[in-house]
Amino acid sequence: MTLKFDLQPSPAPRGDAEREAILADPGFGQVFTDHMAVATWTAADGWGDSAVVPYGPFALDPASAVLHYAQEIFEGMKAYRRADGSIWLFRPEKNAERFAVSAHRLALPELPVEAFLESIEALVEADEAWVPSGGETSLYLRPFMFANEVFLGVRSSRRVQYCVIASPAGSYFSGGVAPVSIWISRDYTRAAPGGTGAAKCGGNYAASLLAQAEAAEQGCSQVLFTDAIERKWIDELGGMNVYLVTSNGELVTPELGTILEGVTRDAILQLCPELGLTPVERRVSLQEVLNGLKTGAITEIFACGTAAVITPIGELKDVDGQYRVGSGEAGEVTLGLRQALLDIQYGRREDTHGWTRRIR
Ligand SMILES: Cc1ncc(COP(=O)(O)O)c(C=O)c1O
Repeated sequence: MTLKFDLQPSPAPRGDAEREAILADPGFGQVFTDHMAVATWTAADGWGDSAVVPYGPFALDPASAVLHYAQEIFEGMKAYRRADGSIWLFRPEKNAERFAVSAHRLALPELPVEAFLESIEALVEADEAWVPSGGETSLYLRPFMFANEVFLGVRSSRRVQYCVIASPAGSYFSGGVAPVSIWISRDYTRAAPGGTGAAKCGGNYAASLLAQAEAAEQGCSQVLFTDAIERKWIDELGGMNVYLVTSNGELVTPELGTILEGVTRDAILQLCPELGLTPVERRVSLQEVLNGLKTGAITEIFACGTAAVITPIGELKDVDGQYRVGSGEAGEVTLGLRQALLDIQYGRREDTHGWTRRIR
């Protein structure tokens, strides 16, 4: 099944000069384009009311289910403008599939993959002029879905709103590609077996904010969470997956289960043999990481995700101390992988995996 997202043009789009000024220094997630894609679902009629409409607020009844029970999911992806002006997506069907997985876990209706892709393409076409060019800029796309039945009862909502908004993006971390410090949370966990860690739902992020605030107090930009049962195995960061580079050429990342299956994580697993590295997915204990940093068995650590691509980690910190990663500078393997991935996304390296999709 697919849905059509016909354009209802904004009567008051931003002018060229205003848009160009924003695109010159977009920041991240602060400014939104002139339109948004929407669709609604009801238990009685299924999906409908799909269109690209002027960007604007929703009218929400105070009894809307999402405000009380957090039945909500979202995605994050980007549209990239290449040097020749064309606009491309990177593995959008992976986001569509993960959106369906998240929907299932949160007892929301699944939006068919084709309808998801159609909504993304229609919005990017409508707001094409908002896709920045140059450097690592992109148009960040945020599909989301929430329960908006007006009813105070704990059951899945019979009315749901789907929406995609778009925001021109520069670099995710204000420090650019400089190595970041990461706080190892001892007090809080992110996801338990059987919980919602593998889904991209707002509640996971709400639950991470206190730990994130603690990290910020310690001068760190993100939190590294350990598993919820033994507090022994590393899981992922608050908003990114994590990789270790070993001295014997392995690229090790925590196995799936309670963590989010990152599109970037998966691309790196597939890409790294081309760069002479062996991908390994397995459980990794925090002790192994700290020992490895001491002995030199772990040479680099990096975080990965759509927003920040690949970000070197220069230092881990916890209540007991600080642990420098290698020299504390961005490592060769991290930078090499980062470049390879960006080159595929921006069309400077051959896409042998069929990951990129031209939309304009
Ligand atoms: C908790 C978490 N882990 C990992 C990721 C990385 O996923 P992706 O590479 O699909 O952006 C994200 C970002 O979406 C995230 O929020």
